[in-house]
Amino acid sequence: MKTNRIIQGDALVELKKLPAACAQSIIADPPYFNVLEDEAWDTQWKTAADYLAWCDGWVAECMRVLRLDGLCFIFGQLGKREHTFLHLMSRLTQQHQFHDLLIWDRAVGYDERRDSFTPQYEMVLVMRKGEKVKFNKDAVRVPYDAKTIEVYLKDKRYKDMDARRAHLEAGKFATNSLRVPSLKGISKEKCGHPSQKPLDLIEKLVACSTDAGDLVLDPFMGSGTTAAAAKKLHRKWLGIEKASNYIKIAKSRLKAAK
Ligand SMILES: C[S@@+](CC[C@H](N)C(=O)[O-])C[C@H]1O[C@@H](n2cnc3c(N)ncnc32)[C@H](O)[C@@H]1O
Repeated sequence: MKTNRIIQGDALVELKKLPAACAQSIIADPPYFNVLEDEAWDTQWKTAADYLAWCDGWVAECMRVLRLDGLCFIFGQLGKREHTFLHLMSRLTQQHQFHDLLIWDRAVGYDERRDSFTPQYEMVLVMRKGEKVKFNKDAVRVPYDAKTIEVYLKDKRYKDMDARRAHLEAGKFATNSLRVPSLKGISKEKCGHPSQKPLDLIEKLVACSTDAGDLVLDPFMGSGTTAAAAKKLHRKWLGIEKASNYIKIAKSRLKAAK
């Protein structure tokens, strides 16, 4: 199968053409359903039930093309009053094996509500196919700053201080709440997609779930963030995207990343 390319087309149709168990990791950032009210691709279903039925189809295909030890990441958010993602999570975890629920902490709020807290996070449902998954915990360690390391080294309960220092310098294991600032309008990384995800966030998902040379699949490629992360980390990648304007953005982004 030819990799490192964007397939233009409908995710469900194109996923069906891929061989079973070809992808080590799948990063799916699908339309949310009526959250981005100005985007035709987010408002294309009449009812939440239609949207959920559509999700059943493409997620089942994702699970078919996922390797037995692979992970499938599915982004979702709640929007102002929408809560369809709650139903989607409930439904998908009854059909497939739940692995984790990540919080993407965007560091700043994104909607001003007068009658509630300001939303600051999105969610990433993680599903697995088999019992044993590939997960590189060391690849997503979070470094301690130098001052914290020095403070911790004052704790004299540790006998082997060299080992203690090496342990601290390796950083701590990342939690399932990932704090990565969302992209501001003026960010250099921003390339014209209304729901472009930060490269740093997608890199963490790629790094923890694959090794160099593994295939990462993104069925809703948008501006090509997954491909950019995979390329940077020397993974193979494959993206599906319906809209030609976003494919154009993704292609020039990947060319610039050479
Ligand atoms: C939430 S965005 C993905 C953004 C992407 N993660 C990024 O960082 O740029 C969802 C994308 O799905 C695409 N899309 C919508 N319906 C689709 C379908 N049926 N098949 C393939 N792509 C679709 C939209 O054009 C949009 O670019």
